[in-house]
Amino acid sequence: MKQKILVTGGTGYIGSHTVVELQQAGFEVVIIDNLSNSNIEVLDGIEKISGIRPEFVEGDASDFKTVRNLFETHPGIKGIINFAASKAVGESVEKPLLYYRNNLVTLINLLELMPEFGVKGIVFSSSCTVYGEPDMNPIDETAPIKTATSPYGNTKQISEEIITDFVHSGAPIKSIILRYFNPVGAHPSALIGELPNGVPNNLIPYLTQTAAGIREKLTVFGNDYNTPDGSCIRDFIDVVDLAKAHVIAMIRMLDNEDSEPIEIFNLGTGRGLSVLELIDSFQRSTGVKVPYVIGKRREGDIEKIWAEPTKANTVLGWKAEVPIDDTMRNAWAWQCRLADKK
Ligand code: UD1
Repeated sequence: MKQKILVTGGTGYIGSHTVVELQQAGFEVVIIDNLSNSNIEVLDGIEKISGIRPEFVEGDASDFKTVRNLFETHPGIKGIINFAASKAVGESVEKPLLYYRNNLVTLINLLELMPEFGVKGIVFSSSCTVYGEPDMNPIDETAPIKTATSPYGNTKQISEEIITDFVHSGAPIKSIILRYFNPVGAHPSALIGELPNGVPNNLIPYLTQTAAGIREKLTVFGNDYNTPDGSCIRDFIDVVDLAKAHVIAMIRMLDNEDSEPIEIFNLGTGRGLSVLELIDSFQRSTGVKVPYVIGKRREGDIEKIWAEPTKANTVLGWKAEVPIDDTMRNAWAWQCRLADKK
């Protein structure tokens, strides 16, 4: 029988790609999403790719009654992947309570109900932001957690602590915490991808919108960093590679009796790429020019960070595979598809 998985935030960017991978691996998926930063049409994209329309509950997972009702009406959920969270760093500084409520209350609701409804495992979306500005790169999971520089980052740190404390209390659940580096790209079918609301904050949606002529020019935030070309360095990880890691993590929690009750993995490629190198990769692989200027540094930005992904490679048996040029082509194909739909 197919195992049933609840995906909170399943119509969002990483969530939708993970739903597809779960379905293709034979899981049955139930999504809860309040559509605050996504669109109901994402379900059509998922269905076109996998041939299966996931069960969908429109609702807010930060509301306890809504989550309880979901478990009652969808019995047999074995695992949860929790993507339902707000993620804009700047907004979190302006509206900290919104971030603490959305991100922390949602997690507590899920954890609290897991034992009662026999849910065995939860995969949690964390971020390399917990490392702050690393003392050295690549960075592995044993590196110190630095004081968070935004309420958003703090919600990720506190969430990791909440899960750890709950598991250590002897709760009958397992958890895998995944620390993402910089997820980019789109499904190669161009049927799902990133759908930012308004003016994008993140590099790739801003870049693809500029290439499409929606934005006049991209500003590179600083070229005076202590890096080879002066721009910041990140570990850009393809969203489908990232989605696949969630499926592997879920199978490990549900089927591997010997795995530890709580585990943490970095999800990155192990390769750092500068902002300028990424623009170059986009232009080279798509043949499309991106007008850009060098601007001032963005406050709060980390100079350079990339992952040491060996633990995920060896323990999970997962490895980032999609070449960056393919990722860029997929991001562009998705942007073109969005333009076609308008
Ligand atoms: C940020 C958060 C991260 C979060 C992620 C998703 C921090 C330190 N990082 O990652 O935790 O998970 O967003 O929301 O809180 N850039 C430009 N021009 C642009 C946009 C970006 O040059 O128009 C540069 C940035 O300066 C940065 C790089 O591109 O060096 C990546 O930026 P971005 O995509 O926003 O991701 P992060 O800041 O790395």
